[in-house]
Amino acid sequence: MRKAIVYATRYGFTAEVAAALRDRLGRDTELFDLAVAGDVDPEPYDVVVLGSSVYMGRVQRAMRNYVERYRTRLAAKRYGLYICAANPDPLVREQELRAAYFPLSCEGAAATAVLGHAVRFERLGLVDRFVARAVLPEGSVREPSEEELDRFAERLLSGTPS
Ligand SMILES: Cc1cc2nc3c(=O)[nH]c(=O)nc-3n(C[C@H](O)[C@H](O)[C@H](O)COP(=O)(O)O)c2cc1C
Repeated sequence: MRKAIVYATRYGFTAEVAAALRDRLGRDTELFDLAVAGDVDPEPYDVVVLGSSVYMGRVQRAMRNYVERYRTRLAAKRYGLYICAANPDPLVREQELRAAYFPLSCEGAAATAVLGHAVRFERLGLVDRFVARAVLPEGSVREPSEEELDRFAERLLSGTPS
C-alpha cells in the first residue's frame, strides 16, 4: 500500500507534524513539501494525507491550488486532512478545518484533525510578526499529543490492507 503526506508549511511546524505522522503510518510513507516538490500526482497512492498551516483563516495558496488541481483524484482516494492552527477558539479552529480543503469534505475523509500549532516569533518574517503580535502577543506552541497523532493514523489505516 503506497502512502503519501503532502503538506504546505511556512515556518516548518506543519512539516514536523507530517514527520510525526509518518512515524505512525510507516517509514515507507512518502513526504512531500509542496514548496519543494512543486507538484505531486496523487494517482499512484492508496492513502493520501494533506496537511497545511492556516494564515488569515485559510490554508496556504499552494495547498488550495493543489486541491483544486487534483480534486477528482483525491476524492477517489482514502484521504486524511489536518491543519495546524493557532486560533484560541476551538470552534473557529474546527471551522477552519472544515473550510480548509474544500471541495474535499471532512465527511469524506478517513481522518481529520487540528494537530497543534507553533507561533515562534523569532522565526517569523516582519509582516507575519506584526500580524501575529496583534493576536498572540506572547507567541504560542502546542505540540499535538501522542494520542491525537495515534488516533489520526489509526483512523486512516483502519480497514486498509497492510
Ligand atoms: C501572521 C500569522 C497569521 C496566522 N493566522 C492564523 C489564522 O487565521 N488562524 C489560525 O488558526 N492560526 C493562524 N496562525 C497560526 C499558524 O497557523 C500556526 O502558527 C502554524 O502552526 C504555523 O505552521 P507553519 O510553521 O507550518 O506555517 C497565524 C500565524 C501567523 C504567524
